[in-house]
Amino acid sequence: MYQMKWALLMVAAIAVVGCTKKEAPAPAAEEAAAVEKEKAPVAAVEPIVPLPSSVEVDMDKVLLGRSLYHDTMLSGDGTVACVTCHSLDHGGAEPRKTSKGIGGQMGPINSPTVLNSGYNFVQFWDGRAKDLQEQAAGPVANPIEMGADWDKVVKRLKKNKEYAATFAKLYDDGVTQANTTDAIAEYEKSLITPSRFDKFLLGDQNAISDAEKQGYATFKEVGCTACHTGINVGGTMFQKMGLVKDYFAGRGTPLTEADMGRFNVSKNPAEKHFFKVPSLRNIELTPPYLHDGSQSTLESTVKIMGTYQLGRDLTDAQVNGIVSFLKSLTGELPAHARPGS
Ligand code: HEC
Ligand code: HEC
Repeated sequence: MYQMKWALLMVAAIAVVGCTKKEAPAPAAEEAAAVEKEKAPVAAVEPIVPLPSSVEVDMDKVLLGRSLYHDTMLSGDGTVACVTCHSLDHGGAEPRKTSKGIGGQMGPINSPTVLNSGYNFVQFWDGRAKDLQEQAAGPVANPIEMGADWDKVVKRLKKNKEYAATFAKLYDDGVTQANTTDAIAEYEKSLITPSRFDKFLLGDQNAISDAEKQGYATFKEVGCTACHTGINVGGTMFQKMGLVKDYFAGRGTPLTEADMGRFNVSKNPAEKHFFKVPSLRNIELTPPYLHDGSQSTLESTVKIMGTYQLGRDLTDAQVNGIVSFLKSLTGELPAHARPGS
């Protein structure tokens, strides 16, 4: 958005400068023409940006990170790993309304996917971590997630001969908290999932069906791309849940602290119920939906978006079209991250 606005402003500025040089200028018309000329390519740019087919990562760190991601040694009682709540069989998220951590404790919020999460502008629903490395420190020490103490985790990893040797090979200072979260973050960065829709964006008209194309057109027409935009079809901004109508009044269950969203971080009353707009990549694989895990189907979730975010009562045909488009965003994991690899 910013880039587009800047581009248009620049065009306007260039047009003005251009005009002042002319002998007999017709400023308004020329300016408009220049803006018009530039507008076409800008408008032709799709709101969704294709994923690259691969990313540059340090593969040794990725493989160390993969082990750590799957290792219950990172939890206080040895029962929970990152993968427990971010299953690669479930689109990098969990098949539960809200998370279940150590001792069977239920968390307050639904776990978002880790897939493509490196492209999100901040991490967590409320954006309280600036990047993946900072994020990874959180769950380990969170008493109801992994309930561990970083000092103890580092000691345990150091005692493990294999880990100690691998860390020593990859990091000058061996096993530390920072190196552990660095390796996990490197693994997560590698979890990108190019899809049929990316092929379509890159010019392969046959990569998606007519129904999916139609659904994509509807997705843009009704305004979903005002928020779900960019490389992750989301993950570029905070937005209010219930922008045009009170979602929480409509939901019918008591308000929770987690429902406050960004407000919990900023304490700014204007940011009550603001959440990071989630990525819609692999959304087919990650029910239940929304931060509260209240929706079990994509259809009902899309309808809710229409009502509360856009003030539109979407027809069944529109909803079904959008859902078929969303399914074209289901991608493929890189080989080193496929279940069983
Ligand atoms: C007990 C379940 C649980 C465990 C274990 C867990 N997570 Fe999470 N994860 C969550 C929940 C719930 C959230 C959302 C919390 C929030 O936004 O307040 C989350 C958020 C995230 C996010 C942010 C994604 C985004 O789009 O904002 C990433 C990345 C992530 N977790 C990675 C990890 C890693 C790495 C580990 C292991 C070190 C881990 N998680 C362990 C439940 C869990
Ligand atoms: C004003 C911004 C905005 C608009 C417009 C918008 N969304 Fe959303 N969308 C959000 C936010 C914020 C969330 C997270 C809300 C929550 O979890 O409570 C969300 C969540 C979702 C989810 C659930 C994601 C998940 O991981 O659980 C889907 C699916 C979705 N939106 C699809 C759409 C579709 C389809 C449209 C158009 C009909 C749309 N959205 C329009 C902001 C928006």
